[in-house]
Amino acid sequence: MQAKRTVVIGFLGTQLDNGRGAARWEKWRPSVALTQHEDRIIDRFELLYAGGQFASLARQVSQDIASVSPETQLLAHDLPISDAWDFEDVYGALYDFANSYPFDPDNEEYWIHITTGSHVAQICMFLMTEARYFPGRLVQTSPPKRQAIGNPGSYALIDLDLSRYDQIAQRFTREQAEGVAFLKSGIATRNAKFNAMIGEIERVAIKSKAPMLLMGPTGAGKSFLARRIYELKRSRHQIDGKFIDLNCATLHGDGAASTLFGHIKGAFTGAGADRPGLLRSAHKGLLFLDEIGELGLDEQAMLLKAIEEKRFFPVGADTEVQSDFQLIAGTNRDLGKEVAAGRFREDLYARINLWTYALPGLAQRPEDIEPNLDYLLAQYGAETGERVRFNKEARERFMRFAASPSAAWHGNFRDLSAAVTRLATLSEAGRITDQVVDEETARLRRLWRHHGERPDGNEVMLAQIMGEAAAAQLDLFDALQLQAVIKVCRQANSLSDAGRTLYAASRAAKARPNDADRLRKYLARFALDWDTVSVSN
Ligand SMILES: Nc1ncnc2c1ncn2[C@@H]1O[C@H](COP(=O)(O)OP(=O)(O)OP(=O)(O)O)[C@@H](O)[C@H]1O
Ligand SMILES: [Mg+2]
Repeated sequence: MQAKRTVVIGFLGTQLDNGRGAARWEKWRPSVALTQHEDRIIDRFELLYAGGQFASLARQVSQDIASVSPETQLLAHDLPISDAWDFEDVYGALYDFANSYPFDPDNEEYWIHITTGSHVAQICMFLMTEARYFPGRLVQTSPPKRQAIGNPGSYALIDLDLSRYDQIAQRFTREQAEGVAFLKSGIATRNAKFNAMIGEIERVAIKSKAPMLLMGPTGAGKSFLARRIYELKRSRHQIDGKFIDLNCATLHGDGAASTLFGHIKGAFTGAGADRPGLLRSAHKGLLFLDEIGELGLDEQAMLLKAIEEKRFFPVGADTEVQSDFQLIAGTNRDLGKEVAAGRFREDLYARINLWTYALPGLAQRPEDIEPNLDYLLAQYGAETGERVRFNKEARERFMRFAASPSAAWHGNFRDLSAAVTRLATLSEAGRITDQVVDEETARLRRLWRHHGERPDGNEVMLAQIMGEAAAAQLDLFDALQLQAVIKVCRQANSLSDAGRTLYAASRAAKARPNDADRLRKYLARFALDWDTVSVSN
């Protein structure tokens, strides 16, 4: 294989490369010296200079290089830079130069000379090389210890990729590990998928300002993670505004837009003063919108515009305001399904569905229950000043239950945290005994027993409507019938309306009059009335 040709790209040093008459040969001139090294032939030298006033110096340096190194082809380029100390000016000219330059890295090796040129030019050369617009290595030259004619001094090649590997890489790995541990509050989770996900979230959090979407069941830690992401970004100087946290399920009607986008004084009755709104409070910070699926369609449209254009109209305002924030959205619904059902805007979904992470519930990562348990016990100790431990057998008993399929952990981290609080509080002299564990597992089983599946949000939750105790008394026969009746009530406009639907057949046969009365009496058997059952949950 033929050796690659060596090509230098460097600025003319208006001071360093300058020199008059024969005396110039006694002076160390970096650009000329670079071509004088015996161990390396420079095949081509791209000599950059800024402006016609340096053309004659460029010519002189070119000729001198030709005389000391006839093998070097010299190409001088007058770059359109009016001020060599103006960053934009220099960067722009170099950028254009690099973009139009026919780099041929398979056959040529590029040395970017950074000893000459203004400091601004040197910095720009460095940046361009680091960003690989110049696909080469930096070269730095230095004068000989003792000046002597023909002594070119020395040169050093700086390989940014290698130096990154050698020195920065270790630091980078350590910082990343710290970031990941921070996101997990130092809990040494064992589930490979969960750990990989947090690892990726760390990288995205550090690098990207794009929206994130955190999905997952209640208590899986979406809100917690959003805040940690914010704190991580702030510690790495990615963000310096506030963390603004809103649960969209708490927004109602007209107030929703105003809470988010603000309003101007007099926008509506009761708007006595301007209100900035949460989007503006999140300027330069992070806005966490939990339960984003609960947002109304109008607010969704306004939010999309605000994310895309960083501008929006407060309610009642005819001029736009600006806010530049990062968005993290949380949801425990399947937003794809919400889009299909027409309840969530497809365009907004597309915009926030870029870095989407589904946080698994605890039951999906049973191997993580133990480290979480230890974390929570330590936290209890730190908060109360009382160190609590499991007896050996008790810990095994609890873990056997906690990781078994009968432990549903519907409330996830919240359930575990409550369980640990109870275990620790009921411990005797800092010891959690078998008996305390058995009572706790029984309590958790009871808690989860009435947690029916709610696949589409339409399931009628009798325990919620009539209380757990009353619901537990019902025969399945009555429970099923009652659920069906309540479902009809919720779709009806009034007691009579529901009665008409439920008793349609006997009504047609004119067997029994007054459907509303029949329904009222039926509900009363379960201590229920129209008002209780007709509100949707
Ligand atoms: N990694 C963690 N380290 C410490 N505490 C955590 C962690 N994850 C969650 N928690 C705690 O667990 C509880 C529930 O977490 P969080 O509120 O973030 O859940 P969520 O997914 O937002 O639930 P919801 O859908 O109900 O809003 C909180 O008290 C939170 O502080
Ligand atoms: Mg939450």
